[in-house]
Amino acid sequence: MIPGARLIILGRQGAGKGTQCVRLSRHFVVPHISTGDMLRAAVREGTELGQMAKKIMDDGGLVGDDIMIGLVRERLSERDAQKRGYILDGFPRTTEQAEALDEIAGEQPIDVVLDLNVPREIVLERISARRVCVDCGTNYTSTGDDPEPWICEVCGGDVRQRDDDTPESVNRRLDLYEDQTAPLLKFYGERGRLAVVNGVGHPDAVFDRLVQTVEANR
Ligand code: AP5
Repeated sequence: MIPGARLIILGRQGAGKGTQCVRLSRHFVVPHISTGDMLRAAVREGTELGQMAKKIMDDGGLVGDDIMIGLVRERLSERDAQKRGYILDGFPRTTEQAEALDEIAGEQPIDVVLDLNVPREIVLERISARRVCVDCGTNYTSTGDDPEPWICEVCGGDVRQRDDDTPESVNRRLDLYEDQTAPLLKFYGERGRLAVVNGVGHPDAVFDRLVQTVEANR
């Protein structure tokens, strides 16, 4: 069997991180750990965390570092992640989260940090067309001639626009990315762990580039 991997994927909102992580997770047989998916699940379940996070997410803000670090610490201690590794999507998003992750990963450091690079004007187009299954999170692209109702072909759930995919929220998230998350490119670059991958093109071509980059960097 192909060896596991410990990966981080960075990139602007709409760069295709979620889309590619589903494939990378199957390829390397490691869990896809998406902090956005974890928070959306908490919102759906109406937990205390979900109730707190919903407004922050809809407004395009960031949930507090302490909460996010606690969530990820707990998830990475589970057996699947300990055994074969993981692909982290949406974490770290701040320097404080990156420093905490170094401490959490400890003796099993990250193999490579992938920067999925897509220009802002292209991610804006992708996000405005994005539709997702509210149950399983599968991504779809609206063509303007969408089925009504739109039923997910994977699980039968409702396919809709995400609550945080409004133009105001998306622009705020993109500004926050430049301010809070882009500095991580320098953080990991200085540690020799960053690999930039072109995220423009057919998803199959992007996937091939990502796999080749992981193999070349570990
Ligand atoms: P999160 O879920 O992480 O959202 P995000 O960062 O906004 O990222 P996206 O899901 O928008 O983009 P993506 O890169 O995954 O793109 P996708 O594959 O969908 O976080 C949501 C919120 O949770 C945050 O705003 C924050 O409030 C909170 N949060 C989460 N983690 C946190 C943390 N660590 N700290 C604090 N707060 C946190 O692709 C986009 C579209 O493009 C899709 O329609 C797709 O089909 C299409 N597409 C994909 N690839 C291609 C391609 N190659 N060509 C054409 N179209 C493509």
